Parts: sequence; structure tokens; C-alpha cells
Amino acid sequence: MNKKAEIEALIQRLPKLELHLHIEGTLEPEQLFAFARRNQVALAYPDVDSLRAAYDFNNLQSFLDLYYQGTAVLQTAQDFFDLTLAYLERVAAQNVVHTEIFFDPQSHTARGIAFGTVIDGITRALAEGETRLGVSSRLIMCFLRHLDEKDAFATLAQAEPYLDRIAAVGLDSSEVGHPPCKFERVFAAAREHGLLAVAHAGEEGPPEYIWEALDRLKVSRIDHGVRCVEDAKLVARLAEEGVPLTVCPLSNVRLKVFPDMRHHTLPRILEAGIKATVNSDDPAYFGGYMNENFEAVQQAFGFDPETWLTLSLNAVEASFLEPEAKARITSAMRQAVAG
Ligand code: HPA
Ligand code: ZN
Repeated sequence: MNKKAEIEALIQRLPKLELHLHIEGTLEPEQLFAFARRNQVALAYPDVDSLRAAYDFNNLQSFLDLYYQGTAVLQTAQDFFDLTLAYLERVAAQNVVHTEIFFDPQSHTARGIAFGTVIDGITRALAEGETRLGVSSRLIMCFLRHLDEKDAFATLAQAEPYLDRIAAVGLDSSEVGHPPCKFERVFAAAREHGLLAVAHAGEEGPPEYIWEALDRLKVSRIDHGVRCVEDAKLVARLAEEGVPLTVCPLSNVRLKVFPDMRHHTLPRILEAGIKATVNSDDPAYFGGYMNENFEAVQQAFGFDPETWLTLSLNAVEASFLEPEAKARITSAMRQAVAG
């Protein structure tokens, strides 16, 4: 095998962990139409091709507008089950062994769908993913940052009966103009409930948002964080404290955070000693799941197997898995790289 084919084979066989995945972002156009038919929801697009043609984004907001529109077809626990299981089947085929999944309850409860309907459907699929597909998982409840603190507190209250199914809270949606500090009190309340915390920061927003996520929300990792390179002190802190970044390369290119993959800051982030990981974000909208993200990075940067091992081990360390599972996956990764 030539070197290129060897790395592609390595990417496929590496056990992978996904740490940045919005379950609503796995809604493939075909599935979206099927749910719309099932639930008799009228769509703004006549067919799958015209919908897919609209996936040409200028920035985060242009994506979010379509993404929230898409969620309207999700109505029953069965829909959330089917959506989640389809995602798990796709990534199990890519050798993903563990996934930490975001969900956006407010985009459903605002449409009159009960919190319990959403979480029942998702967690039933996650249980089947673990037993039948061998994919372990954690669930992360995101607050929509374009909404206010009061709405986030109401969502946390709705989550209370289900806290044993939720590992952490997160923060997503329109970043610029909605700094992490807006949610300082609700994150504190979530942490008092025993939940861990993560937050999207430094995707489109400035490095200051990353500082705030660390100091005021007390997050265990930063989602995206790619703008950290604009602040040398921040880079030094992230490296020193071993704060993981869940980087989403195809997402960043599709949302024009970078003009193309060669301009992505991932190599600089790794060279600075920051624990970066590679993830898919909203794979149905951004052109790829885990392997496609790994392959796009490989095509742009030609990483060696050691770098892929580093990225993989970073994901293990950054995950919310217990130590035994971390040890088991680590040795499987080392074996995969050894060939
Ligand atoms: N950023 C912010 N909010 C989101 C994203 C993202 O990449 N995907 C889904 N909601
Ligand atoms: Zn995201």
C-alpha cells in the first residue's frame, strides 16, 4: 500500500470518539422528508435536492436558520429514537466506539414538544446503540445562547427528573453578542446538580469568550475554540491546563470560519501543545461524519500516524468515560496505529 492508502486505512480502523455532535445536525435531507411525510409537516422545499442545494452557508447564522427549520419535522419520541439510532448506525460503521451527543431541548419545547418526549426517544436509542452496536455514549444538554437566562433556567428545571441521563450542560447557537457570562448563574446551578459543563466558544466569537467559558462557566472542555490562536496568553493557558478543544474541521470550512481547510488552525493548535480532538458537529449539513472529517484534515495537512494517535488519545482523555473504558480504548488505539 502507498502512504496515502495506508493513512486512509488507519483512519478507518482507528477506534474513534466523537465529542462534538448535535443530534439535530444528523438529520439527513432524505430522513427530514420522511419525518415530514410521517408527521404531515409542510416544508419550504419541494424535494431533497432543492433542500440540499440550500446547504450553502455564509456563516453560523445562515446555517442555524435552516437547522432550526429542520427540527420542525421531529415530533414524537419515535422520531427522536429513529434519528439517534440512524446516527449511531452510521458512526458504528466508521468504528466510532463512544459518542457524546448534544441535544437542544429548547428548539423542541418551544414548538410544544415535551422535554420527556425528546429525551425518552434519544436515550432509548442510546441504550440500543450500546447493547447492539457497541457504541457507548453520554448526553449533553445545550442551552440556546440567543435565548435568555430565564429560558435556560426553565429548561434546567424541566431536565430535573432526567438528570441521571444527562452528563453535562453545553452552550450553543448564535455566538457573537451572546457571551458565556450571560449564562454564569444557570451553569452554576447545573454544576450544583452534579452536571459537568462544556461550551461553544471561539468558533465565530473572540478569544475573550473562551476565557469566560473557562473562568465563569467552569467548563471541562471548549467546543470549537479555534480562534484561541489570536491570543498567545490564552494558548499558553489552554496548553498548560490541558483544556481540550473539540474541533470540527468540515464545519469550520462550511461556515466560513476559514476560507479553506489549509487555513485551518488545527496544526498550530496541536503544535502549541493544546489537546485538540477532531469531530463532526452537524454531519448532515457539513458534508461528513467522523471519517470524512479525518480524511479532509489528512488531505490538507498530511499528518503522520503519530499525530493521529495524539488526536485520538486526546479524545479519550477529554471524554467523560470512566477510567476502565479509557484504558481499554487507549490500548485498542495503540494497537490500531501499530498496524
Ligand atoms: N455552533 C453553534 N451552535 C450550533 C452549532 C455550531 O457549530 N451546531 C449546532 N448548533
Ligand atoms: Zn457545535
